[in-house]
Amino acid sequence: MDRTSFTILIVDDEEDIREVLEIALMDMGHQVLLAPDGKKALELFDAHHPSIVITDIKMPVMGGIDLLKQVKRRSPDTPVIMITGHGDMDLTIASLKFGAADFITKPVNVDILELAVNKAADHLIAQQKLVEYTQKLELLVLEKSKLSDHLSSLGLMLGTVSHNIKGMLTNLDGGLYVARSGLKKKDFDDISEGLDLLSQAVEKIKQMIMDILLYSKERSMNIQPVPLDQFVADIRETMKMKLASHPIDFQVATDNAPATLNLDPASMMSALVNILDNAVDACVEDKDQVDHVICLTIEEKDDQLVISIQDDGCGMDVETKTKIFDLFFSSKQVKGTGFGLFIARNIIAQHQGTINVESIKRRGTTFTIFLPLDPLSDQDV
Ligand SMILES: Nc1ncnc2c1ncn2[C@@H]1O[C@H](COP(=O)(O)OP(=O)(O)OP(=O)(O)O)[C@@H](O)[C@H]1O
Ligand SMILES: [Mg+2]
Repeated sequence: MDRTSFTILIVDDEEDIREVLEIALMDMGHQVLLAPDGKKALELFDAHHPSIVITDIKMPVMGGIDLLKQVKRRSPDTPVIMITGHGDMDLTIASLKFGAADFITKPVNVDILELAVNKAADHLIAQQKLVEYTQKLELLVLEKSKLSDHLSSLGLMLGTVSHNIKGMLTNLDGGLYVARSGLKKKDFDDISEGLDLLSQAVEKIKQMIMDILLYSKERSMNIQPVPLDQFVADIRETMKMKLASHPIDFQVATDNAPATLNLDPASMMSALVNILDNAVDACVEDKDQVDHVICLTIEEKDDQLVISIQDDGCGMDVETKTKIFDLFFSSKQVKGTGFGLFIARNIIAQHQGTINVESIKRRGTTFTIFLPLDPLSDQDV
């Protein structure tokens, strides 16, 4: 705010005084609005929001005190300078009560006027600085708390990830051991079992790295039309390996699906594979039955794309259900990082979608994803 650029409203019923004040204030570099009484002054105040008001205390129609009250009601921080005459002592005291910034006595001395206006201007500038300073401070506090959130989740992530990598290294070691001993014995079954263990561990590491990348860098979505068949074929291909060693029937139903899906294929694949991975884990975990079914359904319903993943695995209890989308929540000890569903939900949100879960312990779980048929790209949001 520059001292020279204030708009000042002058209110006086005497035209001569208005003129003198106008010339003096314009000489000081201010812009001036003129009103002959309080009523007209208020109209100008509402229309132009002047920074400072200078008003005669005694005027017809609406006097200075009433104007002061009205201005303070509209804008408590606007300085109002009162022009007083001899014998206005009572009114002067009253205007003090209602928050007048200063007083100038008639006949107006230009030096005193300048002093009063400069004082009001300094007050306004200090106030503005205070507002800016407070805003900056609030921003700083916000950034600091974001930073410490980041730091603590980084620490948590490093801990969890190293723990999991240790587990995966054990799997790699196991696979290597079985494959090597197969080689020594020239036993092809052992070799292939060892290689299977190795590729499972490699797959798991790949998925974890993908998740970490998705988590650490908020990638912008590249929403594009993807042929349904191709999308489903890619999911089947990715799941093939994970399903290979388990008696799980993976069914895909797309009868009511549109032929083209609008989504970011890489990230949506990652979200669905995370959910499907969990479904496989839940089936393997389920000790009540050997054979299981996982069903992926993609359909268009009520102008939405609805994707559901249903398993008849171990299910989960109510308490677990409330935590599954939390970052790092996992019930799988070394086998889980707790990234999967956190990332999946973020990806779905970036598609302006939502995800629901229904689960019954020892019965199974169904995740349902609702997506707009044509999500907005990041550029459009
Ligand atoms: N289909 C499901 N059936 C039963 N429990 C599930 C199912 N899906 C998720 N959960 C529960 O939600 C938790 C969190 O899942 P999430 O995918 O986020 O992590 P995770 O699978 O443990 O580890 P990660 O996916 O990072 O390897 C799981 O540990 C499990 O307890
Ligand atoms: Mg998971």
